[in-house]
Amino acid sequence: MTTSLQTTFVIIKPNGVKGGIIGEIISRFEKSRLSVAAISLRNITRAETEGFYAEHKDRGFFGELVDFMTSGPVVLLALRGEKAVEAVRHMNGATNPANALPGTIRFDYAPNTGENVVHSSDSAESAARELAYWFKAEELTEYTPASHVLG
Ligand code: RTP
Ligand code: MG
Repeated sequence: MTTSLQTTFVIIKPNGVKGGIIGEIISRFEKSRLSVAAISLRNITRAETEGFYAEHKDRGFFGELVDFMTSGPVVLLALRGEKAVEAVRHMNGATNPANALPGTIRFDYAPNTGENVVHSSDSAESAARELAYWFKAEELTEYTPASHVLG
């Protein structure tokens, strides 16, 4: 059987943590048969955030983006599953929540583009780069998920 098992990188942004929806968001991913390969709740530094979002450094929103991402703790997640990169992008919804489809995380929870609750890698290449940026190799666990969803 051909599989396309991937690992993607997700951030639950500070408003998701403060809003008490860490469990709700991770539950959605787990119900979609994406398993948590690595997880960390912590404050990220301005330098880390600026490096991570370097592609946006000349955009007008860059300062606000760094302020927001360092305004409280975030959850850094590695999620593994079939077509994980594309699956999570779909589940997150459009960057601007006004364009997000019903059923997506951003449709349900994001107040605006700047505070859009979640980040996820936009390609397999980005995922590899972002996972290496935030996690040490030994933090990325390997296990075989049960073949059925518990509960
Ligand atoms: P993400 O990387 O966070 O998953 O989001 P994305 O690919 O959908 O959006 P991207 O274009 O990569 O932008 C990264 C993040 O920058 C913030 N942003 N603010 N105020 C604005 O006009 C604006 N545009 C982008 C958002 O937080 C976006 O997720
Ligand atoms: Mg992006």
